[in-house]
Amino acid sequence: MSLENSQNIIDRIAAHVEEKFKSEGSGHDWFHISRVTRTAQAICQEEGADATLVTLGALLHDIADYKFHDHSLEEGPKQARAIILEVGGDETLADAVASIVAQVSFRGAGVPTPADSLEAAVVQDADRLDAIGAIGIARAFAYGGSKNRLLYNPDVKPQKHANFKDYATDEGHTINHFYEKLLLLKDRMLTGEGRRLAEERHMFMEIYLNQFFEEWGE
Ligand code: ADP
Ligand code: NI
Repeated sequence: MSLENSQNIIDRIAAHVEEKFKSEGSGHDWFHISRVTRTAQAICQEEGADATLVTLGALLHDIADYKFHDHSLEEGPKQARAIILEVGGDETLADAVASIVAQVSFRGAGVPTPADSLEAAVVQDADRLDAIGAIGIARAFAYGGSKNRLLYNPDVKPQKHANFKDYATDEGHTINHFYEKLLLLKDRMLTGEGRRLAEERHMFMEIYLNQFFEEWGE
């Protein structure tokens, strides 16, 4: 595919995704998608991945999140594939992007999520970087609030979810989410650049949690 052709596809998909997510309030707003895309492009450059695939994968990674589709992990890749074909991409491109989208989600502390391509690794890392650090903390409490959850309850301990269903249906308080996902992400980064970018954000969450517990009086 020519460079001009892939830029045309990227532009049309970016416009489509921006329109769809403009008014999302669940932590999957257009700004999340656009931060992830920017971070993915930065990691991509360091790691030497394919920029078109990484950009399209990042733009489409939350197109049909499992939380809004009956916990189905198949809807996202399916819709990503259809959109690529709709804007004039070929089957090879559609399959490659769908495969990236299928490999992004975190599925529980006990569930490994390796990537089968450098491009999938880059997009997975970029999405996870947006779940940690100052923005990640804000997103976690925004998500918890949207579900009417407590900030914290010392009696409800974190769990190591052994499968996706247990992880996705857990309704614990938001502080637990740090121990069940956010603090685990640094050591699960798949690229060197992702690992490097995760360090500072991880440290900030640790400082934040120390302060939280100090104020709580534990
Ligand atoms: P992502 O877009 O990073 O893949 P998710 O789709 O899993 O993340 O969730 C969107 C945001 O909400 C993320 O920042 C995530 O950490 C947060 N989140 C997901 N589940 C919970 C939960 N049970 N409690 C608090 N925050 C959550
Ligand atoms: Ni995301």
